[in-house]
Amino acid sequence: MKAFPKAFYWGGATAANQVEGAYLEDCKGLSTSDVQPQGVFGDVVERIPGDSGLKDIAIDFYHRYPEDISLFAEMGFNCLRVSIAWTRIFPNGDDAAPNEAGLAFYDKLFDEMAKHNITPLVTLSHYEMPWALVKNYGGWGNRKVIGFFERYARTVFERYKGKVKLWLTFNEINMSLHAPMTGVGLPSDSSKAEVYQAIHHQLVASALAVKACHEIVPEGKIGNMLLGGLMYPLSCKPEDIFKTLQENRGWQFFGDVQARGAYPGYMLRYFRDNGFTLEITDADREALKSTVDFISFSYYMTGCVTADEALNQKARGNILNMVPNPHLESSEWGWQIDPLGLRTLLNVLWDRYQKPLFIVENGLGAKDKVEADGSINDDYRISYLNDHLVQAREAIEDGVELMGFTSWGPIDLVSASKAELSKRYGFIYVDRHDDGTGTLARSKKKSFDWYKEVIATNGASLKA
Ligand code: BG6
Repeated sequence: MKAFPKAFYWGGATAANQVEGAYLEDCKGLSTSDVQPQGVFGDVVERIPGDSGLKDIAIDFYHRYPEDISLFAEMGFNCLRVSIAWTRIFPNGDDAAPNEAGLAFYDKLFDEMAKHNITPLVTLSHYEMPWALVKNYGGWGNRKVIGFFERYARTVFERYKGKVKLWLTFNEINMSLHAPMTGVGLPSDSSKAEVYQAIHHQLVASALAVKACHEIVPEGKIGNMLLGGLMYPLSCKPEDIFKTLQENRGWQFFGDVQARGAYPGYMLRYFRDNGFTLEITDADREALKSTVDFISFSYYMTGCVTADEALNQKARGNILNMVPNPHLESSEWGWQIDPLGLRTLLNVLWDRYQKPLFIVENGLGAKDKVEADGSINDDYRISYLNDHLVQAREAIEDGVELMGFTSWGPIDLVSASKAELSKRYGFIYVDRHDDGTGTLARSKKKSFDWYKEVIATNGASLKA
């Protein structure tokens, strides 16, 4: 009988800027997310007193987390992925001392999880950084930011070492290539060379955080986090096959550095061919040798690659520009649904790194309808998650070591790409809408009981 491991992490995943709200409360500083009200690809909008955006309140998790965590516990979660807002701890990034009110908030949050035996999986930076570091230092383009990040990481490792054993460095680190402001605090018109230099600084910072975690939380584990953008060749033409290899290396490069501890040759050639002379010091090379304990990733879709420029029209994809696959259906947002692709990706990552894997995001963003009796019959979400989990189980049968599955947005939250609330992922509905109206009340969708059953049976209730 095919099964998930006995000690499997089941749960959900969130990000501070998409759930917490309270964007200036308790001395929090402005983050890059706070100045991008239209989402991760949106323009920077300087805040003015009295203005407001959807993320400012988000789903008010900052004040309602006890209720939300008890609902997660009712579903049987033994794991919850959250992120720490760097700006709650160091409001400007370069502050002389950390902000005690911010530190105290996450103490309360982790204590609440502990009450329900929910293991925290904590992302150090999920699509945000202190805006002051962008304005005053030029974001990750400036080497000094490495030191500010390391200090932040060491601060939270020290503070929470008794409470948090599972850590992630940067969310979807490869997305900086597509949304430089969100990823590395650089303007969208930055040159590729500038973006790669900033990425290099971030990779060094990630490795320094790994080293610090191993020193401060020796029994802990720290992973990277990739946007798992698996690409297929559109045809079997050798040119399509080679271009697909290159496109996949676009995201694998990050994993290669973080899991193997050095720049791969194909990347050095890419820099040479394009005339990029990156500043990579011997100390940087030494730092990169601290590699992650496990590989985590998000998975929503796959896409295709063609070497034929005429065919290379862009699909509406998640961050990566993908050519649509004629064999797949799409979500309402044009994201192509491919459960088998998850099995393929798990095998690719396992074959490449031989490190434990963790699916830390997967799910279906959809518009939900609240019926007259208040019920929400989200069979589409159940079917999406069922089919992906079945393929994850197949990958385990293939020999892949899989630590856990945290579905994206177990409670409705503000979407990252367009900052919408109408794109819902949750098992728990939140009464809040794109125009900011709503009571913020929580209610259970049909998928709530479905996921509860999946967890209770450790996946045995899934329909293959
Ligand atoms: C991932 C991000 O890209 O996808 C999340 O890590 C994001 O922050 C998720 O919310 C889904 O994307 P979206 O745009 O539907 O919110």
